[in-house]
Amino acid sequence: MSSAPSLRVEEVSRSFGSLQALQGINLLVEPGERRAIIGPNGAGKTTLFHIISGTTPPSTGRVHLFGRDITHVPAHRRSLLGMSRTYQVTNLFPNLSVLDNVLLGIQAHRPMKLAMHRPRTSYRSLYSKADELLETWGLSEARDSIVRNLSYGEQRQVEILLALAGDPKVLLLDEPTAGLSTAETQTVSHLIRNLPADMSILLIEHDMDVVFDLVDNITVLHMGQFLAEGTPREIQADQSVTDIYLGTAGEELFT
Ligand SMILES: Nc1ncnc2c1ncn2[C@@H]1O[C@H](COP(=O)(O)OP(=O)(O)OP(=O)(O)O)[C@@H](O)[C@H]1O
Ligand SMILES: [Mg+2]
Repeated sequence: MSSAPSLRVEEVSRSFGSLQALQGINLLVEPGERRAIIGPNGAGKTTLFHIISGTTPPSTGRVHLFGRDITHVPAHRRSLLGMSRTYQVTNLFPNLSVLDNVLLGIQAHRPMKLAMHRPRTSYRSLYSKADELLETWGLSEARDSIVRNLSYGEQRQVEILLALAGDPKVLLLDEPTAGLSTAETQTVSHLIRNLPADMSILLIEHDMDVVFDLVDNITVLHMGQFLAEGTPREIQADQSVTDIYLGTAGEELFT
């Protein structure tokens, strides 16, 4: 069991009506590995995250977490097993303070049983855990700010912080730097780079500077299918990868 990968996706397919969003996808993430999932819009990246985190079931195929088959384990239980994620679109409570959002995030990661027999002191432990997270990630000053008044970049940071509330061993980040300024992108990259070394991170990211900065390996999806896998250097040199980016969106992958 100790040699099991953190995450194993096995022959996962997913269709929505007649649309084949994912087809026969295999993926391995080792403990402490940082891996990016890249691919043009509509490639199936977010769908894959939904399947891994349990918000969408696969049509066929299996997902294993630390060697355990979790294909039919509901999303909230997966977070108790050490998996956490952020969403492509911001997922905070805009009218609550940063602190309240973090408190709710920590609560969500704690088993119900504990909440029902909660000793008085656990409120204190909840608050100290929240303050510790805010302190560690440089957001103490924003503690009492209402989330909707924060910059978009700060909101994305709070989201990552929420995903860390349950001390995950596997963290999924869906475009954490999308819509951020250059400075905010650097702040978020820095935050991700400094996460515990034994945490496995799976990152959907369109910014290749961020990908190169953060990951060991890249998986490329295209139109629901696996296209390529390798180190950033290998992917950069892969003609099939260059072709799909030039062919589909007319965007340069590596500038
Ligand atoms: N719930 C759904 N119902 C129907 N079609 C869906 C659903 N979710 C995703 N799709 C379709 O599946 C395909 C893959 O979508 P997905 O969101 O996974 O792509 P993506 O790689 O994350 O793209 P992007 O880079 O734009 O975020 C797209 O064609 C999308 O329209
Ligand atoms: Mg997406």
